[in-house]
Amino acid sequence: HDHLITSKQLSRADIETVLDRAAEIAADPSAVADRYSNTLLGLLFFEPSTRTKMSFETAMKRLGGDVVDMGSVESSSVKKGETLADTVRVIEGYADALVLRHPKQGAATMASEFVDVPLLNAGDGAGHHPTQTLLDLYTIRENAGLDDLTIGIMGDLKYGRTVHSLAHALTNFDAHQHFISPESLQLPREVVYDLHQEQEGTQIREHDSLEEILPSLDVLYVTRIQRERFPDENEYQKVAGEYQIDAETLEKADDDLTILHPLPRVDEIAPEIDETEYAAYFEQAHNGVPVRMALLDLLLDGGESDE
Ligand code: CP
Repeated sequence: HDHLITSKQLSRADIETVLDRAAEIAADPSAVADRYSNTLLGLLFFEPSTRTKMSFETAMKRLGGDVVDMGSVESSSVKKGETLADTVRVIEGYADALVLRHPKQGAATMASEFVDVPLLNAGDGAGHHPTQTLLDLYTIRENAGLDDLTIGIMGDLKYGRTVHSLAHALTNFDAHQHFISPESLQLPREVVYDLHQEQEGTQIREHDSLEEILPSLDVLYVTRIQRERFPDENEYQKVAGEYQIDAETLEKADDDLTILHPLPRVDEIAPEIDETEYAAYFEQAHNGVPVRMALLDLLLDGGESDE
């Protein structure tokens, strides 16, 4: 079975297959409503989540299936010292596919080595979050198109796993990527190195200010500073509240700019932006359902149509 651990394993064709299937499902969800009536998805969330967990649950139920949920770390036998390897080996006997979120980078790779059912990485520490990337790409395709795209990715690029996954996936497209962050939260050097290997050097640029680049952007992808990943709270306090956007910040933006955010937000986007034509972050969160339905359909059925 296929596991989905990082966006690096996805080709342009893979991505387009998922996005096209998601668009079909979004247009006619009733066509797949009973398709997986005997299917159970195992949810293993070792870190908090609202969107990823609930949209996977919604997706499985909208496909006619159901979920089995480990619940919180506090209420599970993880509390008694059970290892991740043992936990996933047990739950794969209960479910047809597993969704794992874990605070440790590399946890999904390790866990996938112990199971035969498909395992989907729903976020591993500061590593990757590939299913978020698929819904990000779906939303970008709907709002701005994926080719000839100029995107600014701003905020916590060091710890932001949604950024790492999105940046890799965008190298499959004709995208110019501008990374905007304080120096201490720049993309890890190994990610920049990989991006340069995967795409022409001129298509990757780093900036410490949004101002110079804003007018040229089709999409601005804003992220939260990942407080929980800082080894030292003082270091967080030094950058907290930087790189916020409000109506004034956007005065020089293109009228067609699309603003995305994986959410949750803290204070990066002022609420006054929510009602503007720029804001697509709630639509983005909603797209998590058809995109995860499409992904589950393709993984559980080998992509074969029942028509
Ligand atoms: N975007 C995202 O992963 O949100 P949650 O942490 O709420 O799942």
